[in-house]
Amino acid sequence: MAADHKITVALDYANLTDAKSLVSQLNPDYCNLKVGKELFTATGPALIEYLHSKNFKVFLDLKFHDIPTTVKKACEAASHLGVWMINVHASGGSMMLEAALEGINKAKQSPLLIAVTVLTSMEQKTLEEIGVSKNLEEQVLRLAKLTEKCGLNGIVCSAKDLSFLKNQFNSSFLFVTPGIRMMDDAANDQIRTMTPSEAIKAGSSHLVIGRPITQSENPSKTLEKIYLEINQS
Ligand code: C5P
Repeated sequence: MAADHKITVALDYANLTDAKSLVSQLNPDYCNLKVGKELFTATGPALIEYLHSKNFKVFLDLKFHDIPTTVKKACEAASHLGVWMINVHASGGSMMLEAALEGINKAKQSPLLIAVTVLTSMEQKTLEEIGVSKNLEEQVLRLAKLTEKCGLNGIVCSAKDLSFLKNQFNSSFLFVTPGIRMMDDAANDQIRTMTPSEAIKAGSSHLVIGRPITQSENPSKTLEKIYLEINQS
């Protein structure tokens, strides 16, 4: 097998019991896990310890966005949990992004720090609603460039955006892509979606997949199928 692209499974659950029941069906050789606001707010650091004990790497997806000092302290606290990746909103601006970097650098082992550009659930009219008059692609590029300039490791973006983004950045810059759907999946609330293979071909570094795996009839089989599909040479 030429590549080893692990899928990042989004553990979007309300409680520990449901999260553990899904995790028990997943193989850490095929995936990392993403813990978001709902689950972390309900369970706290105990869940992260549990996932680490089961050999999963954790992306703590709390998308910090606040004044620089608060974000710095939040990033430092998240880093002390020993997680693999954390994130902030790039729209917090350069002072906030640099503060986030200072926060992770205080930990013994710094996680990867990435920034959200424009949420994949947003479209042009949503940007207009919040007073952003640039077109969506320009806004994504602007925030991605700001993220790189501030020294973060990469961005979260739609795989659809890779066609115009990928070749404008250093090869080590990471592109983490949610909004992944198989051909026959429901889009749910995602608007700009791509299939796993398309996203890898377009240059995604890490695929974030939630409901197509967690709500499938057999999550373990679905995960293995996607893993094999994206790693075949
Ligand atoms: O279920 P689904 O595959 O849509 O899950 C995607 C996950 O990625 C969710 O946890 C969502 O919060 C997250 N995400 C996203 N768009 C971003 C950043 C994160 O959908 N820009």
